[in-house]
Amino acid sequence: MSTLTTNYLGLQLKNPIIAASSGLTNSLSNIVELEANGAAAVVIKSIFEEEIRLEAEDNFNKMTAQGFVYPETMEYFNYDEMGDPVFDYLKLITDAKAKVKIPIIASVNCVSADKWTDFAKRIQDAGADAIELNLFVLPTDLDRSSDDNERIYFEVIEKVLKVVTIPVAIKISPYHSSLASFIQRLSRTGIKGIVLFNRFYNTDFDIHSLEFTSTNVFSTPAEIALPLRWIALMSDRVDCDLAASTGVHDGDGVVKQLLAGANAIQVSSALYRNGFGHISLMLRQVEQWMKDNGYNSIGEFKGKMSQSKTYNPAAFERVQFMKYFRERE
Ligand SMILES: Cc1cc2nc3c(=O)[nH]c(=O)nc-3n(C[C@H](O)[C@H](O)[C@H](O)COP(=O)(O)O)c2cc1C
Repeated sequence: MSTLTTNYLGLQLKNPIIAASSGLTNSLSNIVELEANGAAAVVIKSIFEEEIRLEAEDNFNKMTAQGFVYPETMEYFNYDEMGDPVFDYLKLITDAKAKVKIPIIASVNCVSADKWTDFAKRIQDAGADAIELNLFVLPTDLDRSSDDNERIYFEVIEKVLKVVTIPVAIKISPYHSSLASFIQRLSRTGIKGIVLFNRFYNTDFDIHSLEFTSTNVFSTPAEIALPLRWIALMSDRVDCDLAASTGVHDGDGVVKQLLAGANAIQVSSALYRNGFGHISLMLRQVEQWMKDNGYNSIGEFKGKMSQSKTYNPAAFERVQFMKYFRERE
């Protein structure tokens, strides 16, 4: 019998597949269904920093007048109809903890270390097993250096770690100027995990109507390559766990990320496309691969293809296509 158990953020997971934060993890019924289909943990849909600040300031008009609202927030929530998102969020955590056995990871979408960070304690008090910080500032401000933008990450982490004892993870994008150094420095702050990588909403527009549209909301399996490279490069160079996110659509993708050194794999697009039953299919595929290759536990092969353990460490450093084209001539 092979065992699929893995450790992530100090939590023992029955298998490596986590339902990533998305609209699918925003209701109790879905969380129950995700557990029934084999998800080892759920990251709840992110609450936005603005919502938390809004509750603190109790003054939505003031905030919009300041222009401090994510476009996503406006799209996602109908503010005329909404109740109290902060209350609803904390209640979802408490209800989920009462209903399911798997770990519940709360998620906060933030852009600053201002005012909202004490809220992390309320997340902990609501019963969450861990907190994932989803932090990204689109670097469009011409007056901010990369150091300025990165400093926010360390400020947020420091403030959140001061108020909670539950494990904290950070979900980042690949858009950082010195990514390896940044990831390693993050891993030494006291956080327990880093999620590589978030995938963003991208804006497009129609060339006929000139109306704005959304594009490629869901990932494709080919998109696994970027997080795979960075999990493999970093898994032996960090002082915390790594979770893979983006482009994992099947059991092969899960196996790849484990071989690269991930502790856990977060999936979202594959569940939107195929339904929650896809988790059990992916788990069966992983088990079959383990059986075919003579592995009884994830620990026996985790990180085997990481840069420091593979027979060809240079493979992960290679970025040019030169040889590929030469071979095709
Ligand atoms: C519709 C949708 C909503 C999402 N909402 C969130 C969110 O609230 N917070 C977050 O951290 N990530 C969010 N994500 C990103 C996913 O958690 C995940 O990182 C990304 O989709 C890449 O993984 P995938 O290739 O498995 O989809 C969302 C993704 C989708 C498709």
